[in-house]
Amino acid sequence: MTTRSASPFDPDYREAFREPLLTADSLIDVHGRPHIDLDGLWRFHIDPYDVHRRRAAFDPHYFELLMKPEEEALRDPGADFPAGAWQTIKVPGCWNEEHPELLYYEGPALYVREFDGPPTGPRYFLHVGAANYEATLWLNGTFLGRHEGGFTPFCVDATPHLQPRNVLAIVVDNRREADRVPALWCDWFNYGGVFRSVRLIEVPPSHIKRTFLRLLRGSGFRRLRLDVETSALEGEVVTLSVAALGVRERAAVVKRGMASLEFTAEPSLWSPESPHLYEVEVALESGDRLEDSVGFREVRVQEDRLLLNGEPVFLRGVCAHEEFPGRGRAARQEDTRRMLQAALDLGCNFVRLAHYPHHENAARLADKMGLLLWEEVPVYWHLAFADPAVLADARNQLREMILRDRNRASVIVWAVGNETLGPGERLTFLSEMAASARELDPSRLVSAALLPLPNDPLTPHLDLVSVNEYFGWYYGQAEQVQDLLKNLASCGKPLLVSEFGADCAAGLHGSADEIRTEESQCDFYRRQFAGILSVPTVVGTSPWVLYDFRTPLRQNKYQRGYNRKGLIGDDHKSRKMAFEVVREVYEGLRDRLRGDAG
Ligand code: GCU
Repeated sequence: MTTRSASPFDPDYREAFREPLLTADSLIDVHGRPHIDLDGLWRFHIDPYDVHRRRAAFDPHYFELLMKPEEEALRDPGADFPAGAWQTIKVPGCWNEEHPELLYYEGPALYVREFDGPPTGPRYFLHVGAANYEATLWLNGTFLGRHEGGFTPFCVDATPHLQPRNVLAIVVDNRREADRVPALWCDWFNYGGVFRSVRLIEVPPSHIKRTFLRLLRGSGFRRLRLDVETSALEGEVVTLSVAALGVRERAAVVKRGMASLEFTAEPSLWSPESPHLYEVEVALESGDRLEDSVGFREVRVQEDRLLLNGEPVFLRGVCAHEEFPGRGRAARQEDTRRMLQAALDLGCNFVRLAHYPHHENAARLADKMGLLLWEEVPVYWHLAFADPAVLADARNQLREMILRDRNRASVIVWAVGNETLGPGERLTFLSEMAASARELDPSRLVSAALLPLPNDPLTPHLDLVSVNEYFGWYYGQAEQVQDLLKNLASCGKPLLVSEFGADCAAGLHGSADEIRTEESQCDFYRRQFAGILSVPTVVGTSPWVLYDFRTPLRQNKYQRGYNRKGLIGDDHKSRKMAFEVVREVYEGLRDRLRGDAG
């Protein structure tokens, strides 16, 4: 705890929890590691006046009350723990869905989970898959730290604080704030809560923190590189094994626990048509080991062409939010699989995961199912671009997303923003984000979804120039997309139409010029695709959007709290007629490309 507030009514009480900020640096690869699962029913209640953090800022021992038997804790007149009737909530879950009376609740809420202590010896990292937006953690009354960012994982070494019986308390605050990422306005629903898994991860004292294994660009698809970050001492040996390639390579840990190795091999290249994955093992001499399934592929741009494994590729895409009926953002593996399968049924080889990092399962499933992915951080519309703390927050979200998914062959694009406007602070902000993405991962493309304006000063900082346009819906005629794209083509880079779409209510029928009918949505797509596909430097399209989704921005009688541009309704079942229109276009494109490849 950095400071202690002078009184329980100190307006700046949150200063007390500013540090330590739990960031990507304490993050480790958790896939396949032994762990204690802390999912399930947690004690829960909303705390609209932020009583618990206010009290804990004044009294550092406040959360120790949770260690006491309830009746004893309740004897403390100052204790604000509600008498007896704790609510419960499922973790992972969103309080908006788990407690319908909290549908529109935005604010702090307290989560409490008790668990038995694990055997001593190993180290234990408390790992949270995601909690929207700010999570402040106490273990057995001790403040562990705070995390910012609603869609990425974080963890903290809990070893020093574990006891035979443990009480974990997390205050999750999903308030929209001007200095957050996203900020006050976004066209999606601001679900709150701990909506991805919580685990106590067991690792040996000397362990592998994370790995980055990939094919090196321009190596003729024959040079591979592994970078490993460990907690090991200098000199300890790391071994990489890829049995199917007959690879067994070693390297010694140098300073700061790092080890790297490069080697030659001839892997079958991963692509949507043949999503070939290799079983890989990275092991430390002292015993720690990580196993994973990794695909090797190369993605790059060459002037205005997009090349996958050296061959031109067209991204037959669709955009998708991570939202599931009755679950909000708390995606189960089968939900994500069904979403990706719907994209495959649409004839896609690409999905834009909008507008924030989705569950880790999305990239792991896409690796297996053969889908290319765009991953994005919620630098959306307007942020406080001049505020260095906001840049630090956005950068950390980017870092956590990239560190989590950079071993996934399916991910080809890191996107640093959506529909942001202007030179000045915005340009500095976004260009720094683009540079950070390249520093963390030089093997993928960097992009951002731009507004349909010529000469966006951000274009030189992007590999793939992506534009959202709504000609024929919000403005103009669908055919005008052609002029826009011809104009943008002068940048000499490959173009992606990252959003285009029209609202329609599932089941509403009429003529094509009757707005919001299924027929009008079909007409929109036919006219848009005719224009888009006539511009040769367009290397992909991702219609907005796969499913109708919830958004507080749209409360009129047609939309009723939903964005209805989905190709499938909000039940995630009823396909609108335009689904077939897009599917036919993609089928045609696929056959044409197959024909060209001959
Ligand atoms: C924007 C935005 C989306 C939004 C869409 C729409 O382009 O990026 O988040 O939902 O337009 O207006 O439907």
